[in-house]
Amino acid sequence: MAIHYNATDQTFHLQGKHTSYVIQMIQTGVPAHVYWGPRLREQQLGRILQLQERCSFSPSSFPDDMRISLDTLPQEYPAYGAGDLRHPAYQIQRPDGSTVSEALYVGHRIIAGKPVLEGLPATYTEQDEEAWTLEVELLDQVAALKIVLSYTVFRDLDAIARSVRFENTGDAPLKLLRALSMSVDLNHSEYDLLHLSGTWARERSIERRPLASGMQGVESRRGASSHQHNPFLALLSKDASERHGEVYGFSLVYSGSFAAQAEVEPYRTTRVTMGINPFNFSWLLEPGQSFQTPEVVMVYSAEGLGGMSRTYHKLYRTRLCRGRFRDEARPVLVNNWEATYFDFTADKIEQIAKAGQELGIELFVLDDGWFGKRDSDNSSLGDWIVDKRKLPGGLEDLVQRVRSLDMQFGLWFEPEMISPDSELYRQHPDWCLHVEGRRRTQARQQLILDFSREEVCDAIAEQLEAILGSAPITYVKWDMNRNMTEIGSAGRSPERQQETAHRYMLGLYRVLERLTQAFPHILFESCSGGGGRFDPGMLYYMPQTWTSDNTDAVSRLKIQYGTSLVYPISSMGAHVSAVPNHQVHRITSLEMRGNVAMSGNFGYELDLTHFTDEEKELVKRQVEQYKQLRPLIQFGNLYRLLSPFDGNETAWIIVSEDQSEAVAFYFSVLAEPNAPLQRLRLQGLNPEADYETATGLYGGDYLMHAGLPIEGLHGDFQSLMWHFKRV
Ligand code: DGJ
Repeated sequence: MAIHYNATDQTFHLQGKHTSYVIQMIQTGVPAHVYWGPRLREQQLGRILQLQERCSFSPSSFPDDMRISLDTLPQEYPAYGAGDLRHPAYQIQRPDGSTVSEALYVGHRIIAGKPVLEGLPATYTEQDEEAWTLEVELLDQVAALKIVLSYTVFRDLDAIARSVRFENTGDAPLKLLRALSMSVDLNHSEYDLLHLSGTWARERSIERRPLASGMQGVESRRGASSHQHNPFLALLSKDASERHGEVYGFSLVYSGSFAAQAEVEPYRTTRVTMGINPFNFSWLLEPGQSFQTPEVVMVYSAEGLGGMSRTYHKLYRTRLCRGRFRDEARPVLVNNWEATYFDFTADKIEQIAKAGQELGIELFVLDDGWFGKRDSDNSSLGDWIVDKRKLPGGLEDLVQRVRSLDMQFGLWFEPEMISPDSELYRQHPDWCLHVEGRRRTQARQQLILDFSREEVCDAIAEQLEAILGSAPITYVKWDMNRNMTEIGSAGRSPERQQETAHRYMLGLYRVLERLTQAFPHILFESCSGGGGRFDPGMLYYMPQTWTSDNTDAVSRLKIQYGTSLVYPISSMGAHVSAVPNHQVHRITSLEMRGNVAMSGNFGYELDLTHFTDEEKELVKRQVEQYKQLRPLIQFGNLYRLLSPFDGNETAWIIVSEDQSEAVAFYFSVLAEPNAPLQRLRLQGLNPEADYETATGLYGGDYLMHAGLPIEGLHGDFQSLMWHFKRV
């Protein structure tokens, strides 16, 4: 792994474990994209770029070489207005109103390791030798705008992290109208586009379609990464599958509005861009000021989607998530939300916790409704003061009662929100996002606090610090239940109003940094009505996310499978809930609910006191089993075997890094009459090794090639689980 600069042909060669990425400076210093794919040895890489003169509708930028038009040249960070008529990666506005820019190479530096991105979540290194970073400096001389393109290539992974920094080096203000994190021009368009889309309770469904001429992609304009589209897309070779074929993945480390687009132009090349959504965005850069974009993690896999996912999983699990819980097994929890909703007392909570303790559960989480006068979702957000009607002894007393059962205690917050019916709103009616003279649109009877303002962030952080410091709380669920409307801030001048949504994210990240640093012993789980902000930005601060409000085992197969395309198992909260299920009213077996939830950070979310003795026995076994499997499940490598998007069956296997242990899960949704015989072929095992499981001893080769028979399943909603140990 290294980054090589060849001064003769002005190429930069970024070498990952099995990947190469090549950039070349063309003519006066235009950074051209030359190659991204399987690793190349150091050769004359300047020969790769193909140039050809095209018609006059692609303007000729360099009269001495009519083969070069910025409109057809594959580029690394295209500008607007000087010859490239495809969609640009950035756009500026100067005081004279002009929006043209042209930034050319002026220098570069290659450094060991990876610099931090000030104020933003990002992947990181612990030792300098884990990665190399190339910074290419471009300058738009007319605008006095410096643009630094940053590329980090990781030693042990086929991932490249890209981001951009803008600096106003002149003496006039500049406005950024568009500042994407990356752009790359691939030399053909024979790809399928894959993305993860859906809605509340149906997040991250896999959608795949062929690229077509023109623009396509996904975006969020909601002020959050969103349930609707995840900040991720991939281009797949036509033959790419779970195990085979080429895949290019793009994942944005950001939690706000984003755009991820692919443009196929007439010569059938494909431009992929990703970053903060330019819609309703601008940023004023005064002289001397700079702007840092979030980063995009780009992954190349020659081993299909499975290979791509395992690269993301490893990078995000080990070098995006931080803090002590990155490497620690996560506690098995019981959450009272679906058990009681807002209707609970301290005694009821204690009963549930006690039932949990008897079953081996380690953490009790008190969800929404413990503060203010919150008997429903129409009040009190912002008043983080315990409701003594429900908890007469206060939080300390309840925490003590739970802890005396030898269980940890966790608490729910929704810190970014404010209810119009709250003391906080009565005191500070201008603390919410709003536009003077316009309606303040409510969703779930709540408004959004203006986290783009420092004093608002500080006030909320102080309230949370007081509560978290007042009792031995070891887990926080950080919820966020609506998207942004009337995005305006009372704390900002008119020309900076369009900075509000991004400044909100920066404010939120600042608060999260402050709290996670102040309370390193607390495990933070992020949530946004389930998975409405399941993104890498949040994982930087909180190593796990509540995957979806939909806890139905069958729905969860798709949700967890889709989520696993990018996000590691250790990032997914998954709970067993009651039947009939509260979201889809389906009745599934406790066994299947357990097996689905065990394929994540395991927990229960129902009234445990209602279990029959028989159910209690099964739950006890599930909890015990999960505890044994937990290191493997949370830190192993995932291989998806059968997709719920393809049919009635789903299967996956998680294999330990050293291939000494594995756990496989198989799920069948509906029973089929007179069904064909079936075997499940595993993956990721050592073919030379032998593995023991409850049904006997098998060779790794046998398990992967001959497979296991699927037998003895009767009825709907069936599941199987095998735990393998190398002998
Ligand atoms: C939405 C979350 O996703 C749920 O789990 C629960 O915490 C509710 N909010 C509480 O209001």
